[in-house]
Parts: sequence; structure tokens; C-alpha cells
Amino acid sequence: TPDRSLAGRRILVTAGPTVEPLDPVRFLSNHSSGRQGYAIAAALAARGANVTLVSGPVSIPVPEGVHRISVQTAREMLAACETALPVDVAVCTAAVSDWRAKELAPGKIKKTGDGPPRLELVENPDILATLCRAAQRPRLVVGFAAETDDVLDNAKAKRLRKGCDWLVANDVRQGVFGAMRNTVSLIDDNGVQSWPEMDKTDVAEQIAQRIAAFFADPSS
Ligand code: C5P
Repeated sequence: TPDRSLAGRRILVTAGPTVEPLDPVRFLSNHSSGRQGYAIAAALAARGANVTLVSGPVSIPVPEGVHRISVQTAREMLAACETALPVDVAVCTAAVSDWRAKELAPGKIKKTGDGPPRLELVENPDILATLCRAAQRPRLVVGFAAETDDVLDNAKAKRLRKGCDWLVANDVRQGVFGAMRNTVSLIDDNGVQSWPEMDKTDVAEQIAQRIAAFFADPSS
């Protein structure tokens, strides 16, 4: 019989990069493939959860049973997440662009001959931190951290700074972007669990199982 352990749970997943336009033809973005987030959305939906996937531009299909909302910018992603509330769980896998251009140039920025343009950047909202502080904070908020150095120490500090319940850390030095496999550690109140390297779909299964266990445990 199929595992319907998340039936009736509302779950928000963010995935993919955000794209921040500089002018009508140029943008600031990153190499996120969306694979890990889409795999998590699929694993949760397979267990019967009502999944809203707020996604930046990626080239992978929408998993069966998942409601996808496509966005471009961090601000659009935040607005779509806030609209999706209330939810029981939020899983923030998106690689949100930290900055955007202060002003969107109305026309293509020209090469003037006096050197490159000065692009003034401003900070984007932190979607994960905003969800953690929201009046309608989800019962369980899961963040991700892609680190290149001091992975676990940085990830522990990040969990506390952002205010999320679980933080999934990965070492991105070996080029996990776009890859099929991932090596992660899960940090919660009880400490760190390091998982062996596995397919992103198996990481997703493990996370979905843990989320189901969280709601099955009457003390959580
Ligand atoms: O601070 P850093 O970008 O490393 O944090 C990563 C985590 O925070 C991920 O869960 C990511 O989805 C989330 N995040 C976010 N909004 C941002 C920056 C990061 O939701 N502006």
C-alpha cells in the first residue's frame, strides 16, 4: 500500500535560482538546477502532501501532483511564499540571489567607451528568515546551506541566525550544482547527522520520511 503519511499536510517548497534583471536583456543569477528541491517536492507529494512549489526558472518538469508557481525574482518568490501561507512545513531549497540591481535600467545598458557601468546593488529579502519570523510561521521550517568552508560550523550558525528548525548543509566544493548526487548533513536541536553520498532523490526520500516522522510524533 502506498505511504500516505503526509496526507492533508500543506507544504511549501522553494527551488531553483532567482533571476534579477539588470536591464531588458541582462540578469544576475546562479547555477542552481532546482533538482534537489524538485525531488523533495515530488517525495512529499508522493506521500500525499498538498505541495506548493515556488520555483525560479529551471529546466525540469513539474513533479506529479505538485502545484508549481513560477517566479523570476527574489521579491516575487517571497510574495508567492507569503500567499501560500498558512502551511504546515516550509522547505527552502531555492538559491535566492543575495542582491539585485538598485534600479532596473529601462533600456539596454550601453557600452559608452568610458569603461563599464557602475552597477549599484541592493540586498534581496531573506525568504527563509522571513518565513521563520512570520505571524503564520509554519510548524516546521527547513533551510539549506551550500558551503565551501567550515561546512558544519557555518551551517550551525546559519540555523540559529535564520531561525529555522532543521538545516540541511552541503559541501559545494565538489560541484553539486546540477549534479544527480549530494552529500548532506542535517542539523537540528539535537545536533548533526551526516548522511553518506546518495542520489538527490534519496536525500529527498530521507527528508520526506523525517518530516512524516515529525508529524507522527505527538511530542513534536
Ligand atoms: O544565507 P544563505 O543564502 O546561505 O542561506 C541559505 C538558505 O536560506 C537556503 O535555505 C535558502 O533557500 C534560504 N535563503 C532565502 N532567501 C535568501 C537567501 C537564502 O530563502 N534571500
